[in-house]
Amino acid sequence: MAKSAPAFTCTECGAVHKKWAGRCDACGAWNAIIEEAPLAAGPSGRTLGARRGRKLALSTLAETEAPPRRVASGLAELDRVLGGGLVPGSAILVGGDPGIGKSTLLLQAAASFAREGLSCIYVSGEEASAQVRMRAARLGLSDAPVQLAAETGLRDILTTLDALRPDLAIIDSIQTMWADHVEAAPGSVSQVRAAAHEIVSFAKKRGTAVVLVGHVTKEGQIAGPRVVEHMVDTVLYFEGERGHQFRILRAVKNRFGPADEIGVFEMTGSGLAEIANPSALFLSERGAATPGSVVFAGMEGTRPVLTEIQALVAASPLGTPRRTVVGLDANRLSTILAVLEARCGIPFAGMDVFLNVAGGMRVSEPAADLAIAAALLSAREDIALPAEMVVFGEISLSGALRPVTQSENRLKEAKKLGFSRAIAPERSKITGGVGIRVQQMPDLTTFVGEIFAAG
Ligand code: TYD
Ligand code: MG
Repeated sequence: MAKSAPAFTCTECGAVHKKWAGRCDACGAWNAIIEEAPLAAGPSGRTLGARRGRKLALSTLAETEAPPRRVASGLAELDRVLGGGLVPGSAILVGGDPGIGKSTLLLQAAASFAREGLSCIYVSGEEASAQVRMRAARLGLSDAPVQLAAETGLRDILTTLDALRPDLAIIDSIQTMWADHVEAAPGSVSQVRAAAHEIVSFAKKRGTAVVLVGHVTKEGQIAGPRVVEHMVDTVLYFEGERGHQFRILRAVKNRFGPADEIGVFEMTGSGLAEIANPSALFLSERGAATPGSVVFAGMEGTRPVLTEIQALVAASPLGTPRRTVVGLDANRLSTILAVLEARCGIPFAGMDVFLNVAGGMRVSEPAADLAIAAALLSAREDIALPAEMVVFGEISLSGALRPVTQSENRLKEAKKLGFSRAIAPERSKITGGVGIRVQQMPDLTTFVGEIFAAG
């Protein structure tokens, strides 16, 4: 019988390769390919061997489960992202760039949960206990009953957790953990995977909720938490632009709540402050109506968020004009520029285009299309849109405006922030009584005619 060959698997995309390589051909990820030990073939030649398994007890779909118990931290922005609070025994991964504020957030979260009566252990593999204590003092959390350890050895950590059985354990970070049964350096894919597996299994077995912190590097040199994402119940990303004080905690996966929910914080001298009304914050720097500035009425999960989209269009000295995008998808910009040219006859050739979302927010909703187009046109024509107007709608390749979800919630938020006019797609369901003047338009050409032709 043929000996089974070793398989090399990419931890980013799962592609299987015959031999090891530094870069995965399938997805282009570097240092992501690891050797998977082949399953030993049993005497019968079948890979599971001759030993028979246990017969599973099956259940029906009709059996009801009580909804998961939750404990709120009192940090409303965090609880919202978790889907209403912490579920005992759940495993949560918090990913983000180094220095973005993960340790700060989780120390604050640990303190809040501890003050709510949960037993919490914070294990730092990156900082000494004294450093963590200094941060706690700076954040005014020294009196919170959080137990602290500075350790990277997984065996000792799990032994401690098993002895104490806390309600919540925070592991900062998973890249620094070292499982001594795996022969690889801390931070390597195999170590991160093994450590995460051990910790998540512990959480499930003992009912301790665990939070794993994971660094994401652009180069993917350190094993990103991608491999870990499949193992945990909830994946949160902590995002923000350097130089901006806003931080967004975003749920990208949540077995116990809605994904796409965001929590907004501001990094201050004394830690992260919660922002209950992000729209007001994102629009706070907005002055009088300026060409190129448009307010987009967006949705982040269940919450309406207004943001300012800014565009600058200038004659380009370059053969290939610049297209610079911050906070939005660059492909979206290309598509919208192409639709403006092909459907409305407005070319951007020979012009540099700069596009960004004010305040360091990221917008990924297609509903932002019309606001992007409006900002581009406004900048190009040097005509300011009325300051009291918000815009939303998806643009199809034909130039038609597609309706988007939750139009009324968007309009209500706009009304709340003092806006009195809105442009929306024609087929959006809007019943009267939102208290705001809504112009509904079928396509981009109508929009251009109504808003820009007059000026
Ligand atoms: P940190 O939580 O250490 O980031 P991470 O764990 O994601 O690497 O936060 C680091 C940054 O936060 C650092 O640049 C200093 C800043 N910071 C404040 O501005 N205010 C504070 O109160 C604290 C604790 C940190
Ligand atoms: Mg940290």
